[in-house]
Amino acid sequence: MRILVLGGGGREHAIVRALVSSIRTPEVLVAPGNGGTASIATNVPDLKIESARVVADYAAENKVDLVVIGPEGPLVAGVADALHARGIKVFGPSGLAARLEGSKAFAKGIMRRNAIPTGESRCYTLREFTQAQQALEKATFPVVVKADGLAAGKGVTIANNKAEAEAAMRQSFNGAFGEAGETVLIEEFLEGPECSLLAFVDGETVTVMPPAQDHKRAFDGDTGPNTGGMGVYSPVPGVDDETLAAMTRLLEKTVTGMHGENLRFRGVLYGGFILTKDGPKVLEYNARFGDPETQVLLPRLKTDLIDVMLAVADGRLNSQTVTWSPEAAVCVVIAAGGYPGEYEKGKVITGIADAEALEGVSVYHAGTELRADGTLVTSGGRVLGVTALAPTLAQARERAYEAAAKISFDGMQMRTDIAARALGGAQ
Ligand code: GLY
Repeated sequence: MRILVLGGGGREHAIVRALVSSIRTPEVLVAPGNGGTASIATNVPDLKIESARVVADYAAENKVDLVVIGPEGPLVAGVADALHARGIKVFGPSGLAARLEGSKAFAKGIMRRNAIPTGESRCYTLREFTQAQQALEKATFPVVVKADGLAAGKGVTIANNKAEAEAAMRQSFNGAFGEAGETVLIEEFLEGPECSLLAFVDGETVTVMPPAQDHKRAFDGDTGPNTGGMGVYSPVPGVDDETLAAMTRLLEKTVTGMHGENLRFRGVLYGGFILTKDGPKVLEYNARFGDPETQVLLPRLKTDLIDVMLAVADGRLNSQTVTWSPEAAVCVVIAAGGYPGEYEKGKVITGIADAEALEGVSVYHAGTELRADGTLVTSGGRVLGVTALAPTLAQARERAYEAAAKISFDGMQMRTDIAARALGGAQ
């Protein structure tokens, strides 16, 4: 079996590791891949993964049996549609279904039409700036200003007053996020802890994964700028069975609502929830595996990932059992100095083998490159994700930090408080 994975982050390294450990012993191609995938699969560095035609041609020419789409860009660009049209199995939703992530206004519409709790919001374009200003006169602050489209996690501002909200809108309308910012949402600010609940979805059946919680801010104590994610843990101690059931129902309502509009969502539906005093509400959806959530979820998956992905692609998830290890997982992200601002590349990385020699530890590569001479160097902002699996969250956390301490490169930074609050410590 030949599988093509699109993407080159820690998420994709975790996906590829799970795929190559399958009893089906697949041949795995990864585009573009990274320094970690290079040693367990074949990297295809130059494939234009956001071009639907290019990916479909490549998959057809190389007799690929299954394409797994990691990031949102190719999903929203309709890569899954082009593969379907060529009769190639794909794990990932169509371009229209991926608008759940690709357009916040579309997602709000689905939520409104299906009575899915979320923050109150309204959309504005540049032509409606005056109406937005009038609405802001009466708003309760803070409000959240969001670019409608994909902005690589950068299009969200929490505005504490009218001036800050207007400044965020101007920034978006002035092209800071390209086309993604031509429409802006002004949204009610919701309070409570956040929780990610991801599910395998085949258009009808929703099979949830264990809850996870990531840490988006760069520095300890949840301070500093937003990042792609500096660490994550699973399970989430504060999420009881009732809350999990409520979040699951909201994902099911989303999928049923999409189906009712002729949109079959197939792939991973990621619900970003906020646990308010009135119950869970949806903050946002993603149409894919999370990064770094995948780096704590897939190590806990006991079922063969290929079986699950094929069941999703074929629309027969209702007959596929999916089981999870009861162990806890903590992932600590090691980033380049300066990230998420400017950072240098090409720093030599050492200590990964020593880290992985510890029981239950896997080191997932994100921004790494394996040079021809065998040297592993940094090539991105988030460089590695160090995941530890252990019987308890406290043990997993301790093991992840013990492993991370064995890794070294010039300028490396990481948060020291991943999962601390969940364990009752300061964060
Ligand atoms: N961890 C957040 C995301 O994958 O978007």
